[in-house]
Amino acid sequence: MGASVPDHFEQMWADLAPVGRSAASGGYFRQPFASAERELMAWFVEQAEARGLRLQVDGFGNTVAWWNVGSGAGVLTGSHLDSVLDGGAYDGPLGVVSALAAVDLLRERGFRPERPIGVSVFVEEEGSRFGLACLGSRLATGATPWSKARELRDRDGVQLAEAMADVGLDDEDPQPWLGSDAIRCFLELHVEQGRDLVDRGAAVGVASRIWPHGRYRFDISGEPNHAGTTRMEDRRDPMLTYAMTALAANKQARVAGQRATFGRVETTPNSTNSVPSAVTAWLDARCDSDRALTTLVDTIWRQADERSQRDGTRVTVTPESVSRGVDFDPDLARRIATDHEGGDWPVIATQAGHDAGVLSAQGIPSAMLFVRNPTGVSHSPAEHAETPDCLAGVDALAETLRRLAS
Ligand code: GLV
Ligand code: MN
Ligand code: MN
Repeated sequence: MGASVPDHFEQMWADLAPVGRSAASGGYFRQPFASAERELMAWFVEQAEARGLRLQVDGFGNTVAWWNVGSGAGVLTGSHLDSVLDGGAYDGPLGVVSALAAVDLLRERGFRPERPIGVSVFVEEEGSRFGLACLGSRLATGATPWSKARELRDRDGVQLAEAMADVGLDDEDPQPWLGSDAIRCFLELHVEQGRDLVDRGAAVGVASRIWPHGRYRFDISGEPNHAGTTRMEDRRDPMLTYAMTALAANKQARVAGQRATFGRVETTPNSTNSVPSAVTAWLDARCDSDRALTTLVDTIWRQADERSQRDGTRVTVTPESVSRGVDFDPDLARRIATDHEGGDWPVIATQAGHDAGVLSAQGIPSAMLFVRNPTGVSHSPAEHAETPDCLAGVDALAETLRRLAS
C-alpha cells in the first residue's frame, strides 16, 4: 500500500459520512435523484476532476470517470452511491471510494495501464425509489428499455422521467451504450452481505454467482368497516390475508432452504379503528436456482389465494423486479482469486443483487470482490467493515485492475 492512499481513503470516507445520515438511527437515506444522492454525485465529480479524470454522464445519470490512458475497450470498476431506506454506509459507496483509491494506488506505484480504466457510479441500484433493482445498469446496457422504465413511479406518484428532469437529466430519448464492445470487463468491489468471509478468516473474497431474486407486489382488497361494531365472522379483512401470507412465506422459504421476506406493507386507509379496505405488501424472494424461485413464489401466491377465499378477500400478484441467477465467468473469478501473492481468496456465492450481475447477464465479463463484514449485517445502520480490511480490498482491486488493464 502506498504512503498516502490510506489517508485518501480515510478522507473520502469522512467526506461521505454525514451525507444523508439520519440523526435518529445513524442509517442512510440516499434515494436516487434526490438531495443526498445528488450531493454524493457532486462529490464524485469533484473527486474525478481533482484527479484529472474525464467525466462521462449518460442520459440516465450513470457517471463514469475515465483515466484515459492507453487504447482499446476500457476496464470499468465501481458501484453505486444510493442506499436502501435507513441503510448502511458501505453498500455501494465502498466500491466507489475503493475504485478511486485503487486508481490513486496504481498511479503512486507508477503503473501505466495499456487500456483506459473507468470508475463508474450507477444510479438507483437498490430500486428503493422506483422499485426496479439495478435500474441504472439495466438502462445503460439496454436490459430494460427506457420506453418501459420512464413510466415507473415512486411512492409519491412522481414518474422516473420527471424525477430525472428535475435534476437536469432531460434527454427525451436516452440511449443504452454499455456493451462488450465498449467495455472489456467490469469489476465491482462490495462489502460482503453475509458472514462467509468471517467464517473463512479472509479479508477479501471473490464472487462465484448471484442467486436469482425478485420483488412481487401483493394487492389484497377487502371490505372497509367499523373495528368495533363488525362481528368477527362478518369481516372481509385483507390484513388477515396478508398476515397469513407472511407466515406462509416464512415457512415455505425455511422448508425449501431459500429466502422470503415481506419488508414493506401499506394499508388503506391506515386507520386504527377500521377494518382496512386494502393492503399492499411486497415480497422479496431469493433462491438458489431460477426454478426454485418460480416454485417458491407460486407456492406463496397459491397459499395467499387459498387464504383469501376463506377471508372473503381478493389477491392479485404483480412481479415488479425479477433478476435471473448469474454465474460470473468462472475463469475470471479463479484467476482473480489465485493469481496474486499470499493465500488464495475464497470464491463465494451471494444472495444480494448487484450491477455486476446485470452487466454479466448482458455479456460483459464481470467479477466481484467482497470485503469482510464482521457481523454480516447489511441494509441496516449496523453495516460495517474494518478499515484494514477495506484497505486490503483497495490493494486487491488495484492489483486486479493492473492485470486486467495490462
Ligand atoms: C441489493 O442490495 C439487493 O440485493 O436487494
Ligand atoms: Mn450494493
Ligand atoms: Mn444493497
